[in-house]
Amino acid sequence: MRAATPAEIEKKIDALVAKMTVEEKLGQMSQALFGDLTDQRKEEIRNGRWGSLYGGGTPAQKAEAQRIALQESRLGIPLIYGEDVIHGKTTTFPIPLGQAASWDPELVRAAARVAAQETAATGTHWTFSPMMDIARDPRWGRIAEGFGEDPVLASRLAVAMVRGYQGESLDAADSIAACAKHYVGYGAAEGGRDYNSTWIPEDLLRDIYLPPFQASKEAGVASYMSAFNDINGVPASANAFTLRQILRDEWKFDGIVVSDYTAIQELVPHGYAADSADAALKGIRGGVDMEMVSTDYWDHGKELIANKQLDPKLLDESVRNILRVKFRLGLFDAKGQQTPTGTAPPTTAALETAKKLAAESLVLLKNQNGALPLAKSIGTIAVIGPLADSPRDQLGTWASGPADNAITPLTALREQLGAARVTYAPGLKNSRDESHDGFPLAVGLARRADAVLLFLGEEAALSGEASSRAYLDLPGAQEALVNEVAQTGKPIVAVIMAGRPLTFHNVTAKAAAVLYAWHSGTMGGPAIADVLLGKTAPSGRLPVTFPRTIGQVPIYYNHLNTGRPPSETGPEAEDKFRSKYIDVSFTPEYPFGFGLSYTSFSYGNTTVAAPEMHVGGSLNVSAVVTNTGKVEADEIVQLYIRQLAASIAQPVRELKDFRRVHLKPGEKQAVSFTLKGGDLAFHKGVQLVTEPGLFQVWIAPDATSGLRGQFELVR
Ligand code: NOJ
Repeated sequence: MRAATPAEIEKKIDALVAKMTVEEKLGQMSQALFGDLTDQRKEEIRNGRWGSLYGGGTPAQKAEAQRIALQESRLGIPLIYGEDVIHGKTTTFPIPLGQAASWDPELVRAAARVAAQETAATGTHWTFSPMMDIARDPRWGRIAEGFGEDPVLASRLAVAMVRGYQGESLDAADSIAACAKHYVGYGAAEGGRDYNSTWIPEDLLRDIYLPPFQASKEAGVASYMSAFNDINGVPASANAFTLRQILRDEWKFDGIVVSDYTAIQELVPHGYAADSADAALKGIRGGVDMEMVSTDYWDHGKELIANKQLDPKLLDESVRNILRVKFRLGLFDAKGQQTPTGTAPPTTAALETAKKLAAESLVLLKNQNGALPLAKSIGTIAVIGPLADSPRDQLGTWASGPADNAITPLTALREQLGAARVTYAPGLKNSRDESHDGFPLAVGLARRADAVLLFLGEEAALSGEASSRAYLDLPGAQEALVNEVAQTGKPIVAVIMAGRPLTFHNVTAKAAAVLYAWHSGTMGGPAIADVLLGKTAPSGRLPVTFPRTIGQVPIYYNHLNTGRPPSETGPEAEDKFRSKYIDVSFTPEYPFGFGLSYTSFSYGNTTVAAPEMHVGGSLNVSAVVTNTGKVEADEIVQLYIRQLAASIAQPVRELKDFRRVHLKPGEKQAVSFTLKGGDLAFHKGVQLVTEPGLFQVWIAPDATSGLRGQFELVR
């Protein structure tokens, strides 16, 4: 069947809205947890009480509830079913922060496509993903759910995910609607405390926090979720500046804005609404179309209209936004009547994608004297640590898939090396375990082995929503375990599995090699084993700066220079009065963009095609990258710029583009990028400006190295 044109959809919406009662409109604007399909719930659906249900329901229940909505409600408006499919449905991919470490938008898109297919098969139409909150604070547990600290990287990956979920056309049987969340600024929570206040000047909002959301709009994202935080004192879930002025007026978004969970009711404790009725009024006026879980819209909408506080036109606008997405998804047509087939085991292709993405997400942080990959001749390996064989933890936060299809590193290593060569003792029951009871067995195995693999980090529950941490160290007695194992003198390789950047300096000092593995999903084990054994060269790069100690937080690469930038080389006396700490270096443990390989790459000069670029023009920048080692591998080539003087000071570096290139030993490639006017622009309040002046430019392997070129931007 031919999909309806936008004009036809608007006509259908006109006809429906004209027939709707205020209750039916408020019903569309209400979303509940699916819960049980009781007789009462069936009656509510028949009466148009709900526009959306989320987070539950068997395929059969979803089909039945939809049948009632379509056939037995007065206007036959379908329900839209939502769900938190964050990094996979049945096949779990790495946590989004891990996916970001792949710097591979095409693979991230492919993974989201798999997630869409597996989700659509269960009758769900809408995922509350991708989360694209820029995060500069690893204390914040939800850093795991996003793409890190950089707006360009996050925008590329957000768009890739949106495209993966939504496919070629929203009404295709295997497409689901995406949701850009949490709009906006949620990642800037004070002190990294979840749900906390944010203070974001408009320039920063527009240059750092908004770009992934705007890029998603341009990619056709179907919905946004308004965030829990307040922005400069106004809650994001009633914020007419971000929701109406920016999202609707400037960007022309015409899909659904759904609140986060009870965020409308939370306007009261925020100190922004006096009571529930006021919360409903401010939520609707602020620009939130659909209220998730709390029921203020339903409870007070009618009286607010009757007493003329609420303009009924605002209700119509919200209902139109909701119906528009339902039409675009095809819910009034075939897709609405589709009987869900239910959950099937992951396909071979899905598992291959999961393994590839997990492998590309692994970041090699240290590799002394080529400790990795492990020599083929190696005898016995002692696998130690609480995360070596913990399927649920390996899936990470928000894993909707089952843990029983996850292959752990221990299983994969036994499979690849033969069980006889792999001994195992967890040492600790879980990452938080303080007991040393398991140490003797672990240390004994280490003593008898030729090499030790330590699987350390954080269990899944320590990151994600409401899991902010005030310490970034390895929890429990993990450091003590490392110390005891190190005393055996056996070579140690540490694999760290976590939902955020951790601080693990002492482990690094004792280990010959360190691999950062995030929570890498269903196929994390085989991907990690392949890298440890040299079947794949590690190619992940950090999407976020790693601090040396929590006291450095926030620490991020695209900071301003200040009037007194620190230097490592300045004379002592002069160096004292600089912007730094007296008890730790000002540099991070590992910079943004960093990651080692099993080969080495050299970067030639950053060559700028012309000494000048005209405002509105473009400029080619290139560098020759050579694989100078013995292994074929991928490198992530990164383009950075800096404007040296501007009417608003600009960061010391800003990522503008990147490319994953594959090079054989000895192979070289001229990697070239085109800088365009927009890449050099920044915001002064609402205005996007480009100011002539001197720019530095780097083609580099990370945010702190590379050879510098320069050019002048002229009118
Ligand atoms: C709260 C979370 O903040 C949000 O990300 C999620 O989508 C909703 N709950 C729904 O579960």
